Amino acid sequence: TRRIKIAPSILSADFANFGAECRAIEAEGADWVHVDVMDGHFVPNITFGPATCAAIRPHIKGVMDVHLMIAPVDPYIEAFAAAGADVITAHIEAGPHIHRTLQAIRNTGKKAGLAINPGTGLDGVENLLDMLDLVCVMTVNPGFGGQSFIASQVEKVRRLRALIGERRVHIEIDGGVTPVTAPLVAAAGADVLVAGSAVFKGGSVTDPAPYGANIRAI
Ligand code: DX5
Ligand code: ZN
Repeated sequence: TRRIKIAPSILSADFANFGAECRAIEAEGADWVHVDVMDGHFVPNITFGPATCAAIRPHIKGVMDVHLMIAPVDPYIEAFAAAGADVITAHIEAGPHIHRTLQAIRNTGKKAGLAINPGTGLDGVENLLDMLDLVCVMTVNPGFGGQSFIASQVEKVRRLRALIGERRVHIEIDGGVTPVTAPLVAAAGADVLVAGSAVFKGGSVTDPAPYGANIRAI
């Protein structure tokens, strides 16, 4: 059976204390740190860009997993690579030339991820599997933390795991992951679970123990 990694999303962290928040979640057992970049154009919310990622980087010992909810993507790939991302994930819906975008990510030496929205099927994904390290299945419509898990995506995860076959490609789940929904997607073949509100609830940088309890509960 696959070991499940937990990737807390700092979208639910204290934005004035990203460094301390990243150190706290790693100390409390996070496997990866998930960094949500939003542009107010591809999604209806704005977070931050490469400069903030670069500032966060020294506070993360492990994997910095950067989820780009931006369009276009290509002009910014170099900047996120230089900021120290380990995984750079772009949306299949973000432009007409996702193959080129994934090639550009791979050319920086970083791991390439492909995110797919709840309304997107697996047709276009099949042709890209050999150039991917990760597929991020969105189980909410991207833009905000704290939304409800869209259960219809579980079947898509199952079909995606079958399509991936023997390839070494992570399936990451993003949105509405809780102790209730996590087992459903893990059983369907997911191995990286992003969780924002479910990890950060009840804790803070001065009282980070709830982060650990929340991570272990997922
Ligand atoms: C949504 C983001 C997610 C979000 C998840 O657009 O990509 O990473 O932070 O938040 P929760 O776990 O609260 O649904
Ligand atoms: Zn995300």
